[in-house]
Amino acid sequence: MTTPQPAAVIILAAGQGTRMKSSIPKVLHRIGGRSLLGHALYAARHVAPRHLAVVVRHEREQVAAHVAEVDPRATVADQDEVPGTGRACECGLLALPEDLTGTVLVTMGDVPLLTGQTLAELTRVHEERGSAVTLLSAVVPDAGSYGRVVRDADGELAEIMEFKDAKAHREAGDEYAHVVDITEYNSGIYAFDAEVLRRALGQVGQTNAQGEKYLTDVIKIAREEGRTVVAHPLADLMQTEGVNDKVQLATLGKVLNRRLVEQHMRDGVIVVDPDTTWIDADVSIGPDTVIRPGTQILGATTIGAEATIGPDSTVSDCEVGDRASVVRTQAEHARIGADASVGPFSYLRPGTVLGERGKIGGFVETKNAQIGAGAKVPHLTYCGDATIGEGANIGAGTIFANYDGVAKHHTTVGRHSFVGSDSVLVAPVDIGDGAYVAAGSTIEGRVEPGQIAVARGRQRNVDGWVARRRAGTPTAAAAQEAIDRGDRDTSSRTSRTEDDPTAQEG
Ligand code: UD1
Ligand code: CA
Repeated sequence: MTTPQPAAVIILAAGQGTRMKSSIPKVLHRIGGRSLLGHALYAARHVAPRHLAVVVRHEREQVAAHVAEVDPRATVADQDEVPGTGRACECGLLALPEDLTGTVLVTMGDVPLLTGQTLAELTRVHEERGSAVTLLSAVVPDAGSYGRVVRDADGELAEIMEFKDAKAHREAGDEYAHVVDITEYNSGIYAFDAEVLRRALGQVGQTNAQGEKYLTDVIKIAREEGRTVVAHPLADLMQTEGVNDKVQLATLGKVLNRRLVEQHMRDGVIVVDPDTTWIDADVSIGPDTVIRPGTQILGATTIGAEATIGPDSTVSDCEVGDRASVVRTQAEHARIGADASVGPFSYLRPGTVLGERGKIGGFVETKNAQIGAGAKVPHLTYCGDATIGEGANIGAGTIFANYDGVAKHHTTVGRHSFVGSDSVLVAPVDIGDGAYVAAGSTIEGRVEPGQIAVARGRQRNVDGWVARRRAGTPTAAAAQEAIDRGDRDTSSRTSRTEDDPTAQEG
């Protein structure tokens, strides 16, 4: 079954969105990692239209800038002061070639769950039926304020009547009084024959309950011309749902997430708790990867196969290799190699690159740090602006002091080098391959391959200090007891014993 390619898709996005009560234009609100308009553009691209136009008006500059960013090939068309979906569509057509023929799809910028597959199906039905207008409809118990699908005695689409107009007929008690009770509604998503659409829009007026130029009036005009018009019911109601306020934004965000998570499970991902797992639309995950509860996988993240993510992790715009494990971690714009392990309680900031089999352990923060294959940063470390060679080991509590208050500086730790615990590497620092840094050192310069750098105060032990300066305390008593039982080794190699330099003060 081949999918026909429509001549154009026009996305209507000029409406105001007052009910969002937001300084952000409605269609720029986000669910699933994309703007509402981004979802509409993505679905439209699926059918590979020759032209794609977005009609804008309210908060034009922001919306147009967003279109340029997410789909630079799309045309931005401006709606003038004439209100209504019909005028919006006309302005969209005006931005496209005058002699455009074939199928034109019309969708909306605030209907984020509509899929490209549905648009392909709409195009196919429209062209197979030789229809001039095909609209997607849906049936619900109460069609609320949607336009009603009015069918004739043969069950064929006759016209769409807007809710406000249907209500007026109910009040007038005329032959259209029943229309308000119709449960089939117009989703506002259509396929049109381009020539019919252009000609009919030229005839549409603004005499209706809202004083708007209704796109839906095209249906009646086409039918009066003897053309076929079709209402094609769509079973999946959520695909026609629009966002008008922040409650609907959250509701559709949750439904979208559920759909994305289910798709990943069908593709072989193990999701322990779909209810607490959030996966954005542009994420890809390999088979048999396990997603544990409380995990968000966001942005353009790619995860390999047989990895483990979570519990309680947020991974955005990251690349995670096969069999890697990421536990209780926040990671942004990071690359985690195959078989590497991260967490628990790690914070990977942009520019972190962890090599294969590498480790970033508990309470470690990294930023702009390339950590080589098999290298380990296991505990309690800040590692910023660093290059760490393969197989190196960074001891607990090491701080890469990368910032001098004005500028950031880089640190290099060579292959298979070893930095002892609680060291401070005051960048710029360059530690060669196969070098050691003694625990507790403050390193400010180069360490050559094969050297150990020791940069700390030497230990000195002062005899009798506790007895003189802490007499009468439990500490002094414990010391005396130990001395009395001969528990003292004065041959210690790591320290020297000296006289009390503070003796004269006591
Ligand atoms: C329209 C349909 C109605 C259908 C409903 C589905 C008409 C006359 N009515 O209702 O039958 O049930 O959609 O949601 O078409 N827009 C513009 N410019 C405008 C007005 C609207 O671009 O001047 C855009 C909006 O941004 C929105 C879409 O068109 O994306 C629909 O507008 P909205 O006001 O929600 O729809 P209605 O006209 O009430
Ligand atoms: Ca309206």
